[in-house]
Amino acid sequence: MQTQREKSKLDWQNLPFGYIKTDYNIRYFYKDGKWSEGELSTEETIPIHIAAPGLHYGQQAFEGLKVFETVDGRIVAFRPDENAKRMQRSCERIFIPEVPVDMFIEAVDRVVAANARFVPPFGTGASLYVRPVIYGAGARVGLGPADEYVFIVFVTPVGPYYKGGFKPVKALVVEQYDRAAPNGVGDCKVGGNYAAGLRGGEYAKKKGFPIPLYLDPKEKKYVDEFGTSNFIAIKGNTYLTPESNSILPSITNKSLMDIASLLGMNVEKRPIAIDEVEHFDEVGAVGTAAVITPVCSIHYRDKVFKFCDEEKAGPVITKLYEYLTKLQTGEIKDTFGWLHEITVK
Ligand code: PLP
Ligand code: COI
Repeated sequence: MQTQREKSKLDWQNLPFGYIKTDYNIRYFYKDGKWSEGELSTEETIPIHIAAPGLHYGQQAFEGLKVFETVDGRIVAFRPDENAKRMQRSCERIFIPEVPVDMFIEAVDRVVAANARFVPPFGTGASLYVRPVIYGAGARVGLGPADEYVFIVFVTPVGPYYKGGFKPVKALVVEQYDRAAPNGVGDCKVGGNYAAGLRGGEYAKKKGFPIPLYLDPKEKKYVDEFGTSNFIAIKGNTYLTPESNSILPSITNKSLMDIASLLGMNVEKRPIAIDEVEHFDEVGAVGTAAVITPVCSIHYRDKVFKFCDEEKAGPVITKLYEYLTKLQTGEIKDTFGWLHEITVK
């Protein structure tokens, strides 16, 4: 048990999923082929060249991960090495120089340690959201990769992404707007995918659905993913999730597949036709921000596929949620070695 740390005075139980100012962010600069040492900064804004490719051509990528206080007072990040590797994949696709895994993890360690008073106390259900972002800086007007880059990590304490936390939500299949293209960048965490998804997300919200569900952009026949999370389904003792090259490989989904296997379930990753969805017992939206959000119904054209009551999630999704969230806070032993402890002086 570590000593009690001083905490910021926040209403931890009622935090939104939004921006709250913390003490520091950390910044690294890439010039002449190498990265600088990271600098902690108290500034919330960045100077950026008016001709930066990050602004004009979307040469930009980001990540999202969470940090928790455990039951025994440790501060832990959930699988930051996986985020580091995914950011390398995103960067490779859009010609951004690689951030070494060690540098990414060092950035997370330093910025979290410097903001330790913002790590929500154990038992509040809240977490510290860590947002690494990288972009092409410097001036370039013709289309081409930038010569200079900036990598920043900021943190902000957050509550649940959808109001009410672990509470079922309704999803709408959005077919008239795609968030990704076949052979595009749907499998990378780049800002352009989210700009492309704004119209579909707002369209769904206006109709009363907090989550849009996208189909494969080529045939509109298979399930791809939700706007900011992967699709999972439960059928009997099987955990199913789509195989597609236009969805983001979710670290939460990857972890849940391992948990489901450990709990004795079969795991299937394969193309899932939208017509098959009505036969599923339970459906969930999974991601760092969404954790596992139970989906009570999916509205597709003139059909409604129902999975659970609007007030109560199904039993398997509930069990997976409990396992994942308890593992993240050290209440269940981390037999996978997923928790990365951060030392706070
Ligand atoms: N899909 C999209 C489009 C996302 O934005 C996210 C969030 O990061 C996910 C899936 C879930 O990925 P992860 O579990 O790694 O957060
Ligand atoms: C995350 O789950 O970390 C995300 O990036 C979702 C975000 C678009 C709000």
